[in-house]
Amino acid sequence: MEKKDGPIGIFDSGIGGLTVAQAIINVLPHERLIYFGDTAHLPYGDKSTAAIQAYAVKICDLLIRQQCKVILIACNSASAAAYELVKEYVGSKAKVLNVIDPIVRYIGESYPDKHVGLIGTKQTVNSNVYRKKVDELDRNIKLQSLATPLLAAMIEEGFFNDSISESVIHAYLSDPHLHDIEALILGCTHYPLIKKQIEQYYEGQVDVLDASQIVAQHVKAYLEQNNLAADKLSGDHTFYVSDFTRSFEESTRIFFKRQVHLEHYPLWE
Ligand code: SIN
Repeated sequence: MEKKDGPIGIFDSGIGGLTVAQAIINVLPHERLIYFGDTAHLPYGDKSTAAIQAYAVKICDLLIRQQCKVILIACNSASAAAYELVKEYVGSKAKVLNVIDPIVRYIGESYPDKHVGLIGTKQTVNSNVYRKKVDELDRNIKLQSLATPLLAAMIEEGFFNDSISESVIHAYLSDPHLHDIEALILGCTHYPLIKKQIEQYYEGQVDVLDASQIVAQHVKAYLEQNNLAADKLSGDHTFYVSDFTRSFEESTRIFFKRQVHLEHYPLWE
């Protein structure tokens, strides 16, 4: 098999990465995806760095065996905790991409000298990875971050676009850490599912930045620049889960508007 005919591997703790997978399918309809939802270990946001790294390495073993040309860490917590390690572990077998670098670059281009908010899991916010990367840009951006640990779990449980999610969102966004911002980074791949409610909260006063579109464009540019874009779709997308959950099955059906076959793949026997 030619390298460009290999699939794109994507992984997340659960359904969040599906927002990125869907954006990739929209801009790269010829690419075959292998998606891994580590449902046995979600949420990643409250796990230690060592635990997330161990999960990520096991998932990459599978994605390498499946001859993925690109492995996209479609989870901010895992991008924060495991990107450098995974990149070294995978080496030349596949290109490893994360969801943080594309959004940081976008912020640098579009919001220099501005106050930008960030919401994400405890792992993402406490790692300070966004702050370090934004500081490296040297664009005088003031980053104001807040850990919002209930949000990913709430979304995985199916609470979005309802009154429960509205109260939780309101409680977090009214926190003084997020006052006077001009843009808000949704620093967790689950959050595009509550983007509308976040926009309603801000009534158009704050730009709400959904990384999934930006990341999909970044993957497209990488494939095109490296002559790795597939010419035609070579088969159906594959979805693995480390634990079979009804909420994941329902979410894939909602996302892809059809029943999706899920393969059960426990990371440890
Ligand atoms: C989580 O698993 O806690 C959230 C995933 C993310 O950080 O994008």
